[in-house]
Amino acid sequence: MFSALDEKEKTIVLDAMEERKASPGEPIIKQGEEGDNLYVVESGRLSCFKLFPGKSEPTFLKHYQPGESFGELALLYNAPRAATIIADEDAVLWSLDRNTFNHIVKDAASKKREKYEQFLQQVKVLQTMDAYERQKLADAFKEETFKKGDYIIKEGEEGNIFYFISHGEAVATKTLHSGEEAKEVMHYKVGDYFGERALLKNEPRAANVVATTEEITVVSMDRHSFKRLMGPLEDLLKRNMDLYEQYKS
Ligand code: CMP
Ligand code: CMP
Repeated sequence: MFSALDEKEKTIVLDAMEERKASPGEPIIKQGEEGDNLYVVESGRLSCFKLFPGKSEPTFLKHYQPGESFGELALLYNAPRAATIIADEDAVLWSLDRNTFNHIVKDAASKKREKYEQFLQQVKVLQTMDAYERQKLADAFKEETFKKGDYIIKEGEEGNIFYFISHGEAVATKTLHSGEEAKEVMHYKVGDYFGERALLKNEPRAANVVATTEEITVVSMDRHSFKRLMGPLEDLLKRNMDLYEQYKS
């Protein structure tokens, strides 16, 4: 949410933040109410519930952990709170007021979510993800471009970044017999992903990924964001990794 800010803006946001302590069972946000703050979790765990139309009981959606933020939707879209958030235990939160949010954070954050909205809808591996969680991926995206022949990933290196292709194409190549040239094992197009294996298995990069079009744009996220945001898809990603078994070095 704050990744698009420069140092000066970050300082303004930090100065505006106020500490709020919460006790177990305390509601921080109530669905349907007006909202004037967004919150960042410093410590403690909270739960998010949503009452869907036609249902009598709210559905549990997710837990919030330190480092995560919530309550941004009401500020971004001038809408009532879309869910209820309750502290599970003693928690320390930092709240940011609507005024500072509107002046400093809103434009950059909503532009970033809008920019990737269509792209994210096309990404096959994300189809099962809740629309809200999918949209949140955009907050963490870092965009990079590479030229034809550039190595985006090098086999054997340590890896901490996960990628989607948003423009252009690439191939994965892998050394199947030591001393021989790496062979092409996968072709990537827009909406495809790579670089998950090193993060899921805590092993070095198992293949090279090389740009094959004049220019390629990738959107990436670091290990921490990957774990937090792609966590719900971990089983699917692991199952897809079975494909690699046919190419063993
Ligand atoms: P806001 O609508 O301001 O208040 C409730 C918050 O719950 C919302 O912002 C989001 O930060 C968070 N939330 C988590 N999951 C969802 C979801 N699936 N739909 C809507 N809000 C969600
Ligand atoms: P990672 O090992 O992090 O970095 C190289 C990436 O290439 C890997 O994750 C996969 O996303 C991708 N890849 C494509 N084909 C293979 C393969 N046969 N074996 C391993 N990784 C592959």
